[in-house]
Amino acid sequence: MMQPNHMILDLNPPISSLKEEVLKGLRQDQKQLHPKWFYDERGSKLFNQITTLPEYYLTRAEKEILTTFHSDICALIGHNSPLFELGCGSEEKIQLILESLQRGNRYVPIDISQEALNNTVEKLLDTFPLLDVKAIRADYTQALSFLCQSSKEQKVILFLGSTIGNLEENDREKFLCQLAKNINHHDGLLIGIDLKKSPLLLEAAYNDSQGITAEFNKNLLHRMNRELHANFQVEQFTHHAFFNNDKNRIEMHLISKTNQEVKIGDETFSFLSEETIHTENSYKFDLKEFEQALVKVGLCLRNFWTDKQNYFAVTYIEPIPK
Ligand code: AVI
Repeated sequence: MMQPNHMILDLNPPISSLKEEVLKGLRQDQKQLHPKWFYDERGSKLFNQITTLPEYYLTRAEKEILTTFHSDICALIGHNSPLFELGCGSEEKIQLILESLQRGNRYVPIDISQEALNNTVEKLLDTFPLLDVKAIRADYTQALSFLCQSSKEQKVILFLGSTIGNLEENDREKFLCQLAKNINHHDGLLIGIDLKKSPLLLEAAYNDSQGITAEFNKNLLHRMNRELHANFQVEQFTHHAFFNNDKNRIEMHLISKTNQEVKIGDETFSFLSEETIHTENSYKFDLKEFEQALVKVGLCLRNFWTDKQNYFAVTYIEPIPK
C-alpha cells in the first residue's frame, strides 16, 4: 500500500459528480459518457492490459522513444527539476526517465485512479527507495492550478501516452493555454502524441482480438451498475471503435443491441436498437499542426523524437521566450 506520507492531495471526485455527469450525458440526443470515468480499479487494470496488447502500438512506440533518446530527453529535463506527471498510468515510462537522471528529482504523479497511483508509487520505490515521491489523486485538469502555484523552482510536466488526444479540441486548447499561463520561462513540458497513420492500424489498436478494449469500454456500464445502482444489461451492448477521417480521431461507442430501457435512480433512459453511447475520442496528430496549436497559446516545440515506424512522437515544449 502507498504510505500516507506519499499522498499530498486527494481530490477524489465525489460520487454525486459521477451521477450528475452521467445523467447529463445520457440526456443528450447523442448519448455520451466522459472517458475519465473509465478509470476505476477494474478500468485501470484493463487499461494496463491494453498497453501490452500486440495491436496497441502506442505504449511500445513511446517506450522505444524514451529508451532510444533518453540522454537527449534527460539533458533537456535536467537533473534537479521536479517531475510532475499528469495521468501517470503505470510506472514503466517514468522509470525509463528516472534511470537516466541522477535521482535528485522529486516525482509527483497525478492520477484520477487510486489504484494507478498506488501501483506506480510502490513499484518506483522498489527500484528507487530514496526517491522523493508525492502523489496527488485528482483529475489532471483540476490539479494543474495547484501544481503550477506550488513550485517556483524549474519543473517539467509530463503528459505521456497521448492522453492529450482524449481531450476535445476546445479543451485541449484551454488546457495548453492554462499550462502556458502558469509555467515559468525555464519550465518544460514532455508530451506524447499519437501520430496520424493508416486507419487499418488505428482501428486494429482499438478493436483488439482478445476483446480487452471491449471489456474496458463496457466497464463503464458495470461501473454505473456498481456505483449508481443502474440496471444496464451489459451483454445487451457491443463495443464499437472506428476511425473518423474528417475529425482525425478514433471514436469509441457502446451500441445497444435492441430497444431497451435502463434505470438510473428515478430516471429512465430509452435506447433504440443500434443507438450508441459515445464513450471516447482519441485524436491523432500531425506534428506541424500540433506545433501551430502550441504557438497559438504561447508555447514552442523545442525538440521531438519519433519511433522507427513514425507511429508516435514525444515532444519537448517550452514557453516562447519574451
Ligand atoms: C489513455 N488514452 C491515451 C488511451 C487512448 O488510446 O486513447 C485510452 C484507450 N482507449 C482505448 N484504448 C486505450
